[in-house]
Amino acid sequence: MPEPSRWDECYKTGDTPWETGQVSSELQGVLAESAIQPCCALELGCGTGASAVWLAQQGFDVTACDLSTLAINRARQKAKEARVSVNFIVADVLNPPADLVGPFDFFFDRGCYHVVRREDVAA
Ligand SMILES: C[S@@+](CC[C@H](N)C(=O)[O-])C[C@H]1O[C@@H](n2cnc3c(N)ncnc32)[C@H](O)[C@@H]1O
Repeated sequence: MPEPSRWDECYKTGDTPWETGQVSSELQGVLAESAIQPCCALELGCGTGASAVWLAQQGFDVTACDLSTLAINRARQKAKEARVSVNFIVADVLNPPADLVGPFDFFFDRGCYHVVRREDVAA
């Protein structure tokens, strides 16, 4: 199965053991303990967007991408319900479109590099 369909299938069937629906506690911890101020941020492989939405609620200007259209649609709905603006993009981080090129001041990844490094570590 091609990669986008494989990930969509996971979200469609609920085979998403990584999905907590919660903001990443590591992300929250880093921002609480560091001097990082709201800035232009990118989330790679954002899934259904809980952390991207939270970053936007903290005042970050957020772009977030995922290969799965289904995940991005759910993320857009989450942002709408939270009444925040996030630039959610369906995109492959191994072949990024122009709107993912930045520059960005801060990026966050929970579980995306973990999977894409097995496919093409150089990309
Ligand atoms: C382990 S999940 C983590 C999702 C999310 N970060 C979270 O913590 O809930 C990995 C995510 O990376 C996405 N993904 C996999 N390969 C990708 C690629 N080449 N480009 C963009 N996203 C990708 C998947 O669709 C999936 O949402």
